[in-house]
Amino acid sequence: MDRRRFMKQSVPLGIAAFYTPQSLTATSLIPDLNALPLESVDLSDPSDEEAWAKISAHFMKPEGVTQLEHGYFSHSPTGVLLETQRAMSDIQRKTSLFMRREQDQWVEDTRTDLAKFLNVPATELAITRNTTESLNTVIQGFHWKAGDEVIIGDQDYGSMNEAFEQASKRYGIVLKVAKVPLIPKSDEEVVDAYMSLLTAKTKMLHLTHLINLSGQVIPLEKLCKAARDKAGDELCIVVDAAHSLNHVPVFWREAGCDIMAASLHKWTMSPLGLGMLWVKEAWIPRIWPLMGDVNRKDTDIRRLEHLGTRPLEVFAGLRYALKFHREVLPIQAKAARLRYLQESWTASLKDTKHFQSNTPLEAGRSYAIANLKHSSLKPAELAQKLWDEFKIFTVAIDHPVVKGVRITPHLSNSIEDIHRLNTALKVLDK
Ligand SMILES: Cc1ncc(COP(=O)(O)O)c(C=O)c1O
Repeated sequence: MDRRRFMKQSVPLGIAAFYTPQSLTATSLIPDLNALPLESVDLSDPSDEEAWAKISAHFMKPEGVTQLEHGYFSHSPTGVLLETQRAMSDIQRKTSLFMRREQDQWVEDTRTDLAKFLNVPATELAITRNTTESLNTVIQGFHWKAGDEVIIGDQDYGSMNEAFEQASKRYGIVLKVAKVPLIPKSDEEVVDAYMSLLTAKTKMLHLTHLINLSGQVIPLEKLCKAARDKAGDELCIVVDAAHSLNHVPVFWREAGCDIMAASLHKWTMSPLGLGMLWVKEAWIPRIWPLMGDVNRKDTDIRRLEHLGTRPLEVFAGLRYALKFHREVLPIQAKAARLRYLQESWTASLKDTKHFQSNTPLEAGRSYAIANLKHSSLKPAELAQKLWDEFKIFTVAIDHPVVKGVRITPHLSNSIEDIHRLNTALKVLDK
């Protein structure tokens, strides 16, 4: 076989068996996956391991480890990675021709695709790098006046607390902290925790839809309705959906919030470094961009995503992740599978001596993520034992309200992984 033919055949993933510059200059070395249909799978039964194994097969996994910490970010299906690599080499081959002639359309096509997927207007959608950037844009850029009040939650994400504290120092806004019950007895208990703090001075209500520490999902629609009924349209309701987007089924347009921010590299499974910010039309001119932007109209959502040069290949990966959801992974089936994996270990906690859940386990109050407490082991000790003795990877959460080990299975996990966890918990319960 001549050498060039050999190279073409042996580098289908863009990885040369041996490197020559010529072997990596053609983008065709990486197949255009958009041209290939994805195999459809009947995912109607969350416990059908044979069917879900076909989804799991789309992910690369760490070897020799039971990975149950998929909360930091969600690894992408291999198709997403390949599309990203293909776009990366395409952009490098095109040089600044891409930046100067194609970039704008590339971004707009991605915005349209994502907006369609979320069923929100593209004119209200900014694409950012992560939730932290999206929410800082809102928190730092809101038209605050000294004395304005904001309601946040006691289990909100650390970076958001810092953003609000900085805004408090800078603008003199007043932060009021709702104590969200760890295991609520009813939706009303959660609604009351927030509504009891609402006054005529409250300008913003900040809700963490899925609390990352425990996995608790708060009753978003009820909270938005209660707040709106009491405070009207001048209250800005902001949702941190970092963990709930494409994990918890929500019709965002009807949820009742004004602004929603999320990381696309979490449950949307895009490449790392993508987030989004959905701002309802009326609020767009009422937020200053994080990066100076004075040439666009105040009503243009793109003011809020102003950024310098950055890697744009991740947009191709995002679009493939959306295709993956559209073609094989309906959100209801995905949520049911994630919930099933969680229930498959939390159901037996009631029969243990030492373990207790830090997560409300009723349907609708949690999905993939749950948090586990041991009667005598500290969170870090429990996480360490799971790792040292069973090679099960989790994360210790030591927060004033939530203390335990967070366990987050993903679609790449099988029920065997959960059985391994159950076996470990039985041993540690002795
Ligand atoms: C609730 C919540 N908000 C915000 C973030 C920040 O996300 P990112 O690091 O992608 O900005 C996280 C990250 O885990 C989170 O759990």
